[in-house]
Amino acid sequence: MNDLDALPADFVWGVATSAYQIEGAAAEDGRSASIWDTFAHTPGNVDGGHTGDVACDHYHRWPEDIELMKRLGVDAYRFSIAWPRVVPGGAGPVNPAGLAFYDRLVDALLEAGITPFPTLFHWDLPQALQDRGGWAARETAEHFAAYASYVGAALGDRVTRWATLNEPMCVAWIGHIEGRHAPGLSDIGVAVPASYHLLLAHGLGAQALRATVPGAEVGIVHLVHPCEPGGDRYADVREADVRAATRYDGHHNRWWLDPVHGRGFPADMIDVYGVDLPERPGDLDAIGVSLDWLGVNYYNPSVVVDDAGGPPPYGRLSPPAGTRRTMLDWEIRAEGLERMLLRVSADYRPARLYVTENGSAWPDTVGPDGRVHDPERAAYLDEHVAACARAAGRGAPVAGYFAWSLMDNFEWAYGYDARFGLVHVDYATQVRTIKDSGLRYNDIIRRHRDRTRQVA
Ligand code: FCB
Repeated sequence: MNDLDALPADFVWGVATSAYQIEGAAAEDGRSASIWDTFAHTPGNVDGGHTGDVACDHYHRWPEDIELMKRLGVDAYRFSIAWPRVVPGGAGPVNPAGLAFYDRLVDALLEAGITPFPTLFHWDLPQALQDRGGWAARETAEHFAAYASYVGAALGDRVTRWATLNEPMCVAWIGHIEGRHAPGLSDIGVAVPASYHLLLAHGLGAQALRATVPGAEVGIVHLVHPCEPGGDRYADVREADVRAATRYDGHHNRWWLDPVHGRGFPADMIDVYGVDLPERPGDLDAIGVSLDWLGVNYYNPSVVVDDAGGPPPYGRLSPPAGTRRTMLDWEIRAEGLERMLLRVSADYRPARLYVTENGSAWPDTVGPDGRVHDPERAAYLDEHVAACARAAGRGAPVAGYFAWSLMDNFEWAYGYDARFGLVHVDYATQVRTIKDSGLRYNDIIRRHRDRTRQVA
């Protein structure tokens, strides 16, 4: 394996999950419905008609799940807090029972020597707020800030590292243009204001956290893809595809990264969308609030061709034939992670960069020997950790890596069949089995610790 030495001695090794994907207990202790409950319960939206009603039953099995993290040997756990548990009405009174769940979780993580790394919003908007306009309404951003301060006040004595939002790009574009995610809309006129208010929520939420939690280290998590024109990479690439790749890059990367670094929204993309921003004075400063760290999630590169007849950004994915792909058809290319870490470092100069998600889906099963042999996932892990180390060796301030995911879970529109876990979950029995890739991760972590210890 390539030299992990390039990773700093205090490099954080973690695993990631999100509330709706693992918790279950959808109607327990005062939790209200989120847009994902509504969306998943609407026939035709999720493969197999699956929902997150029970998921991994983590709401009841969290002590066992912390034990698994200990066995993997991780330093940190990135999880998300369910807004509909904490503020069931979206706005208004706090639900103490909802907060108490995260309170117990944080205590137990700290006792296990694992740093809690919560994300305040990982897509599960309270349905009550959707009914009042969802992210297209400015008030949603204001309610998010209030929710952030409640959570900060409850956990801030023990939690230092906070993420405001996870991948607002997916919420805005997949949820409001492509309709494949909650709330299932296809309307650019709603999607653009939603994208704006998501980033405003980030800014207001970061300010609210800092006001409540002295010393809070606040960041945001963006999904990044290197975007390339499709067709034959080694032959003539059509001009139109080159332009499509630039638009795709604007749509997926720059629209999200530029404003949170104080650069405003990219003008070329405002033209592409043709929708006015709901801007008020001071908003761009709020959105560009300083970041203590930036999180990037990376899965695959985007190879794009022109699609003049499609929705904005008028390009569509066209994965090249003959490449290695996961079961979701996502191309496997670790070099894309290295490239994005270097690009983000050069373009935005983040103080600290975490790979907040990275992983691959395979249709794993428990074998007759009681083990889960997933060599593809282990190889993906090796290759991508090596890519982080190369980027770090070339100067990117990579401070940690979080494998997606701790365990198999509800993979949004794909339901439960797309398994991303380092730990296998048998949904009929809720039995957890550490996969070979989980053992490999443990090995990587120990090897890095041993090496850096020798150097010290
Ligand atoms: C990311 C999401 C995460 C998970 C992975 C596979 O886009 O943040 O919840 O679904 O993809």
